[in-house]
Amino acid sequence: MAQFTVENLRDDLSFGSNVRGVTWDTLKDEGARQQLRDLFKQRGLLVFKDMEPTAKMQVALSKVFGPLKDHPTKTTPRDEETGDAEDGVIDMHYKPEDVGGDYSGGLVKIDGEVLTRYSPWHFDHCYNDELNYAGVLRAAVVPPEKGRTGFMDGIECYRQFPAELRDRIEGINVIYTLDTRLSRMRYGVNFELASNDMPMAVQLLKEVAIFPRAMHPAVWTRETGEKVIHVGSWMSWGLEHHEDAEGDKLLDNVCQQINAMGDGTSAYWHDWSPTDMLIWDNHRMLHAVEGCDPKYERHTIRSTIQGDYGLGYFEDGKKIGEVFREEVLLDVD
Ligand SMILES: [Fe+2]
Repeated sequence: MAQFTVENLRDDLSFGSNVRGVTWDTLKDEGARQQLRDLFKQRGLLVFKDMEPTAKMQVALSKVFGPLKDHPTKTTPRDEETGDAEDGVIDMHYKPEDVGGDYSGGLVKIDGEVLTRYSPWHFDHCYNDELNYAGVLRAAVVPPEKGRTGFMDGIECYRQFPAELRDRIEGINVIYTLDTRLSRMRYGVNFELASNDMPMAVQLLKEVAIFPRAMHPAVWTRETGEKVIHVGSWMSWGLEHHEDAEGDKLLDNVCQQINAMGDGTSAYWHDWSPTDMLIWDNHRMLHAVEGCDPKYERHTIRSTIQGDYGLGYFEDGKKIGEVFREEVLLDVD
C-alpha cells in the first residue's frame, strides 16, 4: 500500500490537513485514492506537500476527486502545457513587464499598500447555476512576500457567525453575476481602487450579457448535517426578492462580517511553495487572494473538478444564451 501521512493544517483550526508523500504510486492505488476522497470530505481543504510540480501530476491528482470540469467562459486563458487535451486547466499568470496585458490593471490599495492580483472572498462559478465540487491549485511562481491565498471554512464560519446576522441571512438566496470588475463591487468593499479594472474583466463582459443572473443560498446544509455559510462578496449583486436598501445593507453587513472573520480561526492563509498542490471544497469553502506588490510575478494554475450541490439556479429558469442583459455593457469605460 502506498503510504502517505496526514496532519492537521493547524491545531487551532477545525478544518484542513497537510498530506505528505503522495507519488505516482499512491495515485495508482485505489485504497489510497478512497482514503484521500474521505479525508477531503471531512476536512474540506488538503495541502499536498512536496509534489512533482507538473501539469501532468496536477491533472492526475485532481482526477482522484472526480472528473475535470471545463471553465464556463471562453475568455479565461488555458494552461499551455495541458492545452485543450485536458478540460479547463486554467492559467493565471501576472508578469510585471506585461504592461497593458490581461492581468495588468485591477490594482487596489489596502492599508496604504498598492497590490496586484487581489481577490475578495468568493467561491468559484458562483455566477453559474452549477458549481464545481472542488478546485486544485498550485503556484509555479510566487512573490517573495504576500500573494497568499486565503480559505474560509463555511462550517466554522457558520458556528462563529453572530447569531442575529446569521438568522437574518438564512433561507435567502444571493444573486451573482460574472462581473469581476473591482470598480463595480457593491458589498464588503474593503479596499480603495488604485487603477482601472483588469482588461480581462472588461473583455469578459461580452460573455456576461448572455448569462442569466445566478442564485445560490447564503446558508445550506450538507448531507452530513452541518450548516455552511457560503456568501462571496466578489461578484454578488444583491439578495433575491430583497433588491432594496434594506437587502443591500444586510448583504453588506454579512460581507463585512466575512471580511472580519478572515483574520480568525474560520480562515487559513496559505503561503505557497512551488511544490504544493492544494484542493478545496468549493461548496463549503470561500477563498481570497491577499494580493502582492505589482513589481513581483505571480503564476498560479487551477484545475476544476465536476460535481454540483444542486442548489443554484439561473433566474427565471433560463439557460446561458437565452438572455441578453444589455445593462452590463452600458457602463463599459
Ligand atoms: Fe477563485
